[in-house]
Amino acid sequence: MALTFEEAYTRLAEHGQEHVLRFWEKLNEKERAILLQQIEEIDFHTTDHLIERWVLNEPETEHFNHIEPVPVIPPVDPSRPDAREAKDTGEEALRAGRVGLLLVAGGQGTRLGYEGPKGAFPIGPLTGKSLFAYHAEKIRNIQRRYDCILPWYIMVSEANAEATRAFFEQHQFFGLNPTDVTFFVQRMVPCVDERGKFMLEAPYRLARNPNGHGGVIPAVVENGISKDCLRRGVDTLSYFQVDNWTVQVADPYFIGYHLLRGGEMSSKVHRREGPREAVGVHCLCDGVYRVIEYSALDLYPQLLETTPDGMPVYYAGNSAIHILNVPFIERVYAAYRQFPWWRAHKKIPFLNETGELIKPDKPNGYKFETFVFDALRFIRHKPIALEIRRHGEYTPIKQLRGENSVEAARQAMSDYWGEWLEAAGWSVPRDDKGHVSVLIEISPLFAWSKDELVQKLQGKPDKITGNVSITSDGALETSVG
Ligand code: UD1
Repeated sequence: MALTFEEAYTRLAEHGQEHVLRFWEKLNEKERAILLQQIEEIDFHTTDHLIERWVLNEPETEHFNHIEPVPVIPPVDPSRPDAREAKDTGEEALRAGRVGLLLVAGGQGTRLGYEGPKGAFPIGPLTGKSLFAYHAEKIRNIQRRYDCILPWYIMVSEANAEATRAFFEQHQFFGLNPTDVTFFVQRMVPCVDERGKFMLEAPYRLARNPNGHGGVIPAVVENGISKDCLRRGVDTLSYFQVDNWTVQVADPYFIGYHLLRGGEMSSKVHRREGPREAVGVHCLCDGVYRVIEYSALDLYPQLLETTPDGMPVYYAGNSAIHILNVPFIERVYAAYRQFPWWRAHKKIPFLNETGELIKPDKPNGYKFETFVFDALRFIRHKPIALEIRRHGEYTPIKQLRGENSVEAARQAMSDYWGEWLEAAGWSVPRDDKGHVSVLIEISPLFAWSKDELVQKLQGKPDKITGNVSITSDGALETSVG
């Protein structure tokens, strides 16, 4: 039964938020239903706590007596016995169908100046293929290699759920079986003004935001994803962010280390390029595994320390690549009230008393979010952090130009794929700094490792003079750069 006006009013009044019903008399039936639904979805226990802790009082900075770097497994060297054992274990889990994929894709491409889901962003410099298409091709390759199904669970938000589904349908699910792709929607949280009051963005709609990628914890349980995993025999989820173009999904080495060390949640970390790189830092704070977000680094200046050559002492950067066990997600969900929230001071458009929409020019309210890496503090085992080389594994797309940008990623991947082609005996043009001077794209469905490419191109050495794209069936498409 849907909430009635009286019930909604009582519930809001108990928490000092009844002002959001002030335009009720002017709303039509449909609008009233939308507003009641939004009120019904509010977890008042949480919002009261957030307002008390983060808005009405100046939040205390967490103090730690002792911060130390997280112990890190060095990057995979396939000739090391531990790496070989990890790979065998990971491959066995993949073949046995124990692995699923968890993608968080609730964000919009705003920072890229792109309208629409970030995953639809056309990252391929020559093909214009989207981030989603790239991830899907990698998945098809791995499914083929291990003769398995990798169920793909994609978390979207209210803002992009419809557009994301439509994008997949428009592209025939990029050749994946639609029954193995599940979209689920994360929860929304109301924004509040500086007095802790909910805000309206329309007479019948609260100003709300998605609950952050930590929202994946409740969303997996509440949307039946954990049950679906159980039904399929999946207990290990390979977690990644949509904006990491070349993330190695379901990496057997990583899965193997995680399983062999009894992991509940494990992470891949990369060396921070400098103390101010916009990535979180993995560390142990009073013995507890934590990620300190880049925006909080000034609170813990030791995390900004550098070695004489300028590199961060606390070097383990958060690549946002994890493995989470399904039972672990359920355990964290059961204790979700203890999950930490964070606030961001933002410019939030709102309706004033007379119903006029105000677009503020300075921050006027707060958004609250949770971060998935905060689940790491709930693990019961020793930290499992595997260092990766950024090359070909960590290529996040945060902006168009500069650090972690589309431009930088395309250059990095041309360099990386150029090495693969050179290993296959091809000649690849490079500039005087050693960078590949043309654009290269290789379909992950055709080859998703250097060895696979070399084997497939055997006996067909070529010379590249312009941009080159190798399609999923191995055809060569060239264009002048
Ligand atoms: C994030 C990490 C940072 C890490 C970096 C690596 C946070 C707070 N910080 O930074 O520690 O080093 O990535 O690339 O995440 N998303 C949702 N729902 C939400 C919010 C975000 O699904 O409510 C998804 C986005 O679609 C995206 C991902 O989470 O895939 C990351 O969000 P983003 O805002 O881009 O994080 P960053 O600030 O780049």
